[in-house]
Amino acid sequence: MARIEETRDRRKFLKEERKAIYPELTIKQFQDWVDGENPPYALLQYALVDDSQEIIGGAVVEVHDHLDEKRVLLVLDAIWVKSGWRRKGLGRQLLQETFEEARRYYQKHGLNPVGIMIQTTSLDEGAAEFYHQSINPPYSVTEQEMDGVKIVVFLVPLK
Ligand SMILES: CC(C)(COP(=O)(O)OP(=O)(O)OC[C@H]1O[C@@H](n2cnc3c(N)ncnc32)[C@H](O)[C@@H]1OP(=O)(O)O)[C@@H](O)C(=O)NCCC(=O)NCCS
Repeated sequence: MARIEETRDRRKFLKEERKAIYPELTIKQFQDWVDGENPPYALLQYALVDDSQEIIGGAVVEVHDHLDEKRVLLVLDAIWVKSGWRRKGLGRQLLQETFEEARRYYQKHGLNPVGIMIQTTSLDEGAAEFYHQSINPPYSVTEQEMDGVKIVVFLVPLK
């Protein structure tokens, strides 16, 4: 059994996120990058936890663009499930609940999130297929190639 919850334990979350998707970075490099690129107030982190509250996955959302004073386009910065927990439907559950939670969160803060953008590449093996199988229609998808790498962008309406 697992469920998702928003986490305020930033240190613990970043530790697991780095291990899962940025193992090439040192803790300091990762921390500096996250601090520089993503101010904590703009960043939403949702942790997928098991029965004993261990983090087994996570998702990160932030505001990508302000379309006008109220309307914002969100971006899914990262989503991951620890290797032993994959292919059990948890990534799909995390993705869908993250959309819902993010929509509620930004609405609570007076913003109108019109959609969420997700970008992935052919280097993230299986990721595009995961999104195709896990996002409920309607959504749009564009595919482009750059330097031999396929770049896939999903736009998911949140209304
Ligand atoms: C992508 C990721 C989050 C998927 O998590 P997950 O819990 O394994 O996903 P789910 O079990 O919910 O998968 C739902 C469906 O998506 C598809 N899918 C998931 N992983 C897939 C893969 N590697 N290859 C092809 N299809 C995949 C399948 O159709 C799957 O349903 P099925 O298992 O019944 O066939 C996980 O593999 C991961 O953490 N990968 C490393 C980080 C990463 O690449 N993140 C995305 C970067 S953009």
